[in-house]
Amino acid sequence: MPETEHTAWLGALLVDFVDRLVPKRLLRLLVHPKFHALVGADRMEALGGWIDNKFMLKRRQKRCSEQQIDQSTKDYLKSRFCANPFRELETTPTGLAYVCCPIWLPTPIGTLDTPPEQLWSSDAAKRIRESILDGSFKYCSHLHCPAITGRTLPPRDAPESVAMIKQYEESPAKLPEHLVLSHDKSCNLSCPSCRSAVYMADSRKQERLDQLAERTLLPLMRGAKSVMITGSGDPFGSKHFRNLIKRLNGGDFPQLRLELISNGQLLDRRAWSELNLRGRVSYVQISIDATTASTYAIVRRGGDFKRLLKNLAFLRDLRTSGEIERLEFSMVVQTLNFREMPGFVRLGEEFAADSIIFNMIRQRDIFSREEYVEAFIGSPDHPEYDAFVETLKAPELAQPNVQIGNVLEYVKRAQAGAAV
Ligand SMILES: C[S@@+](CC[C@H](N)C(=O)[O-])C[C@H]1O[C@@H](n2cnc3c(N)ncnc32)[C@H](O)[C@@H]1O
Ligand code: SF4
Ligand code: SF4
Repeated sequence: MPETEHTAWLGALLVDFVDRLVPKRLLRLLVHPKFHALVGADRMEALGGWIDNKFMLKRRQKRCSEQQIDQSTKDYLKSRFCANPFRELETTPTGLAYVCCPIWLPTPIGTLDTPPEQLWSSDAAKRIRESILDGSFKYCSHLHCPAITGRTLPPRDAPESVAMIKQYEESPAKLPEHLVLSHDKSCNLSCPSCRSAVYMADSRKQERLDQLAERTLLPLMRGAKSVMITGSGDPFGSKHFRNLIKRLNGGDFPQLRLELISNGQLLDRRAWSELNLRGRVSYVQISIDATTASTYAIVRRGGDFKRLLKNLAFLRDLRTSGEIERLEFSMVVQTLNFREMPGFVRLGEEFAADSIIFNMIRQRDIFSREEYVEAFIGSPDHPEYDAFVETLKAPELAQPNVQIGNVLEYVKRAQAGAAV
């Protein structure tokens, strides 16, 4: 074998070795609290981001490209449309940009340091939009996307779909209408489903994020109608997001409406006034995951249930007075809380939530295989699986304001004997 071929072969073998073995072991090491303390939160964050972009992203894309799609889903998609890739931009903590949720559609359109217009019209962005237009939806995860599993995509010939397709054909570079900002993981809590320790960006990192917002995000928001903060950390727990919210509410974006996803611990009357939120927020989603103080203390580590209830009462006032248009509560379904699902719907009613969202706990790099097996209640091998399936029959869960997300999809797949 010539030397160059030999070197290439060895190189490929090494990459394969690293790809198969190192990330899992390395990630286990990375989440160890002692290692965390030694290296420092921001360096850990950068390293985790590098591993995610280098290895985990490829795996998510591979799983997506190899997914088995049944004929009924294929037929369904041929007649449907999704506007997200034509109107939405989402940022991530690893510095990438997407045109939908990165779990539902794991192909990025570029990096956040790309000039704004170039990023929005990148080749990857065009390919994704084409896959919606040709009805293949091949970059979308048919397991994770709730619009596909829940069959809620609009028909391709609906007037809004036709208008969006026409607009794209006439001006393909039109900037996003909606942004989801998830580039800072800073949060006041450390829910075990999400992270192994509290993460707060240090002042240097915050400054870099503030600069990124000025350079890339604010120019991309010129034509936007709404911005969602955040799927990564907490809008009130992150200094960067608090700065950004103040900046957006300072008068330069009078049409822009905010949508907030928060653990709700810091969302009180004081924050509402300090961040000048009055008249600016259309939607609030509070992730709660529990109906009792004892479960809450575990699944929302660092949170105080009493404080949450007080803030939920404040949110109920905002909703009933019409100050916000929509209020939703969400639960990540897992072994620790599945029995509280029916009560969670009642909690939503008590606090005037328009909708209750359930989503199955997703595997994250922070879990060991054993931890995930223990938490993932959707497996028929789980000792409490029968009790889980029985709970799902509760009448509360069949109410029209309940979004059961991918929970039933997992059960359906398990019953069909498919891998979950
Ligand atoms: C990462 S949080 C960021 C927003 C905010 N801090 C909050 O908790 O609502 C976004 C959503 O992800 C959910 N989440 C956390 N860990 C998850 C997991 N392992 N699987 C699925 N969803 C998860 C949270 O409950 C929340 O609804
Ligand atoms: S993943 Fe779902 S929501 Fe996202 S673009 Fe595809 S169909 Fe639309
Ligand atoms: S509150 Fe949200 S961002 Fe913070 S740790 Fe919990 S799930 Fe993660």
